[in-house]
Amino acid sequence: DRQIFLTRHGQSTDNVTGRIGGDADLSPSGRKYAEALSKFIKEQRVQFALDLVHEQHEREEIWKSKGLEPLEKTDGSRTPEELMKAKAESICNSQFIVWTSMLKRAMSTAAYFDPDEYDIKHIRFLNEINASICEGMTYEEISNVYPDEYNLRKQNKLFYRYPGIGGESYMDVIHRTQSMIIELERMSQSCLIITHRVVMRILLGYLTDMSQKEMPHMDVPMHTVFEVRPKPYGNEILKWRYIE
Ligand code: F6P
Repeated sequence: DRQIFLTRHGQSTDNVTGRIGGDADLSPSGRKYAEALSKFIKEQRVQFALDLVHEQHEREEIWKSKGLEPLEKTDGSRTPEELMKAKAESICNSQFIVWTSMLKRAMSTAAYFDPDEYDIKHIRFLNEINASICEGMTYEEISNVYPDEYNLRKQNKLFYRYPGIGGESYMDVIHRTQSMIIELERMSQSCLIITHRVVMRILLGYLTDMSQKEMPHMDVPMHTVFEVRPKPYGNEILKWRYIE
C-alpha cells in the first residue's frame, strides 16, 4: 500500500508572462503553492497511515469476534489507542520519495519539503520538453517568427520535434520518461513527482491507459495535485486543486 502524487511545479515567472521552456524560478504565487503542497502531502501521509491502522484494527476485531486472536501479542503496557498511534507514526515515518526535474522551478517547489523526512531526488529525465529555438518565446511570438513551425506542431503535436540543438517532440519525451515509469511501477515507497506539463501528460496518460495521440492535448492545470489510486480495474485519478 502506497501513495502516488504528481504535480506540475508551482507557477514560475515565465508562466506569468506566457513564455515556454527556460529555467525561471517561482513567482510569489508559485511559492505559496509550494508551501501549501508540502503541508498537503504531510497531512495526506498522516491520514493514509491512520486509515491503514484503522483498517487493520477493524479486520482484527472481525477475527476476534470469530474467536481468532492475532498472533502478535502486545506487552500490555500501552493502551490499544497508544499502540495504534505508534503504528501510524511508524508508517508515516517510513521513507517517502520526492522526485523533481532538474529545473529551478521544480527544485524550488520541493524546497519546502524537509530533507530529513523526504528522500528528495532531482532527475533530468523529468525535465520539460526542450523547445530549442523556441525556448523563452510566447506562443504568439512563435506563430509570428516561425509560422510554418507553429502550424506543423499544431497539425501533429505528438511527432513534431522542435528544430535546433536538443529540440524534442512528445515522442522523444515519451522515450526518455520510460525508465521513470518502470521505476515508479517497481518501487514500493510512496512518492510525489514534481515535474512539467508535457511530462505530466505522459505519466498520467500512461497511468490511465490513454492513447499516445490524446496525451498532448490532456488538460493538466497548474497548482493541482493528481493522486493515483490503483484499483482492480485500473488506476483512478483524484485531483486536488489549490485555491489561493
Ligand atoms: O508553458 C509551460 C510549458 O511547460 C512549456 O515549458 C512547454 O513548452 C509547454 O508548457 C508544453 O505544452 P504544449 O505541449 O501544450 O505546448
